[in-house]
Amino acid sequence: MPHTTRDSRQILVTSALPYANGAIHLGHLLEYIQTDIWVRFQKSRGHECHYVCADDAHGTAIMLRAEQEGITSEALIERVSREHQQDFATFGVAFDNYHSTHSEENRYFSELIYTRLRDAGHIATRDIEQMYDPVKGLFLADRFIKGTCPKCRAEDQYGDNCEACGATYTPAELIDPVSAISGATPEVRSSTHFFFKLPDFADFLHEWINQGHVQPQIRNKLMEWFEAGFNEWDISRDAPYFGFEIPDAPGKYFYVWLDAPIGYLASFKHLCEREGLDFDAYWKTDSSAEVYHFIGKDIVYFHALFWPAMLHGADFRTPTAVNCHGFVTVNGAKMSKSRGTFIKAATYADFLNPEYLRYYFAAKLTSRVDDLDLNLEDFAARVNSDLVGKVVNIASRCAGFVKKLGGGRLSAHCAEPDLVARLIAAGDEIAEDFEAREFGRAVRRIMDLADEANTYIAEAEPWVLAKQPGREQEVLDICSVGINLFRQLMVYLAPIVPAMADASREFLKLDSLAWESRHEVLLDHEIAKFKPLMTRVERDKIDAMIEASKEDLVEERKLKETPKGPLTEDPVAAEIAFEDFAKVDLRIARIAKADYVEGADKLLQLTLDLGGETRTVFAGIRSAYAPEALEGRLTVMVANLAPRKMRFGVSEGMVLAAGSGDGIYLLSPDSGAEPGQRVK
Ligand code: 2FM
Ligand code: ZN
Repeated sequence: MPHTTRDSRQILVTSALPYANGAIHLGHLLEYIQTDIWVRFQKSRGHECHYVCADDAHGTAIMLRAEQEGITSEALIERVSREHQQDFATFGVAFDNYHSTHSEENRYFSELIYTRLRDAGHIATRDIEQMYDPVKGLFLADRFIKGTCPKCRAEDQYGDNCEACGATYTPAELIDPVSAISGATPEVRSSTHFFFKLPDFADFLHEWINQGHVQPQIRNKLMEWFEAGFNEWDISRDAPYFGFEIPDAPGKYFYVWLDAPIGYLASFKHLCEREGLDFDAYWKTDSSAEVYHFIGKDIVYFHALFWPAMLHGADFRTPTAVNCHGFVTVNGAKMSKSRGTFIKAATYADFLNPEYLRYYFAAKLTSRVDDLDLNLEDFAARVNSDLVGKVVNIASRCAGFVKKLGGGRLSAHCAEPDLVARLIAAGDEIAEDFEAREFGRAVRRIMDLADEANTYIAEAEPWVLAKQPGREQEVLDICSVGINLFRQLMVYLAPIVPAMADASREFLKLDSLAWESRHEVLLDHEIAKFKPLMTRVERDKIDAMIEASKEDLVEERKLKETPKGPLTEDPVAAEIAFEDFAKVDLRIARIAKADYVEGADKLLQLTLDLGGETRTVFAGIRSAYAPEALEGRLTVMVANLAPRKMRFGVSEGMVLAAGSGDGIYLLSPDSGAEPGQRVK
């Protein structure tokens, strides 16, 4: 019998569309798991709920990546889409449709929304000046330009901000700018761009922001932006660009972020066509359906300002809510490739059960925007003690007696109706928690119920009674209650651990673990032979996963070093004369002290001992080294570099390290070298 609630809702849910040029990692998975749990909960409650997503397939980064791999953009996005969908399936993320922004549906809606906005006067055009790479023949986004910081003179800084001193500037202010793609010196060129007139929607957005469509923290942020005033949004890019050409504007393309959220409509339309659903019932302005977007806190501007304004301006309904989450940290720090904590979904799944992660994320998720720390010790302890130690334990302790004493059939009457009724009634509060995305609170309630169930069994001691002749029925009664309690718990846990729930459903010989089904107590009901439903987390598998993630980094490096040429690596330096090289005074230095630098998340302050003389150097190596790991270590420094005044103090030299960004390798001499020795 299908279990539907009387007040069935129509709900459309989306997660952010992942870029089609990289693998899904644990940071992404937080969002997909959060959304999937919520969707599964809604479906369990009997609502009509559709969950759609797609690959975000356009833009310069994808175009360049394909070029680097020597394939077409279409071939790249095709391959990545398959990989993404495989990863999502592995983690039980069950989209009703997975599409692509490079699709006919998306072209249709992008053109429709754009032309409606244009015809209503919300699009402006004007010429702007931008850096242009004359070798590659394309305009360069800020992150594709590098040069020397105009403030502190640190070399090799990106086009919009300096990692050494924190200054922000425009690429035109950089000293000796180069294209990070070709190494060429960029030129300033002018071209016509198309702008979405966001300020036209200021009144509408002011109201929308304050109508409860976003969390309170997000509302406050949005109001700050609102008060600072909105700018028009540049929605066009010049050819060559992988995307959709703008109607009536040859050579001009929609900026990837214009057609990305429209991909939500496109994917849903694709689903509607396949399943005969009514698209307009969800998207017309007076729709009674609900639309929810789950996103990360970094893309709020797009989803809570541009997107509602675009929809409103083009006569579509706006989202019921934009639900925002924080970032994942691992063991208290940003995910780091060199520490092996930048973990890809596929690498995780090679070592650990995806449901462990679903459970752990759920146990820590709230409705707020805070970051979530995946502490690997706590992860193992929690999964083992809760899922294995508390929940599976109930079934495993009871199943054997049901088999032996009831021939696999539960008692025909319930020996503890009050206890069973309490677990059933708890479902109402747990449902409220799921609805409000307070998954951690739901998990705490469920585990409290599991504790109650275990206490009941421990106090009833069926294994003791089983040894006393004539008490078989009593034992069967107790264990039948235990199995019923286990069933209630699995109804509540099913949105979180669907594979475990499915195995439990088979063990319980039930058609469904839908929310309302819990009201029917299982009496005189046959169950199957017990099989372990979840095994313990093995700590050595966690270590192996970390090691494998470090290997992933090595593989990526190799890919970047293919003959097609590095994408964002430094251009090869020009040849120099020996006399020039001889001017560099390289010395062995001992790192006497290393400290964090307040306000600089890339830097460490090093106190270097040059064999009597002491130097202070600020080095951009914080992402790779903890200060305490460096103290006492020998390295190589440039000792005659002119002192550089930085925001945090004067840097008196430079230490030598290989790599860039996340993978940083400080040079060390062989043992025997002495501080102060000249390096030749
Ligand atoms: O930030 C990102 O990864 C984007 N690809 C998200 C796009 S979400 C939506 F707008 F398409
Ligand atoms: Zn600087």
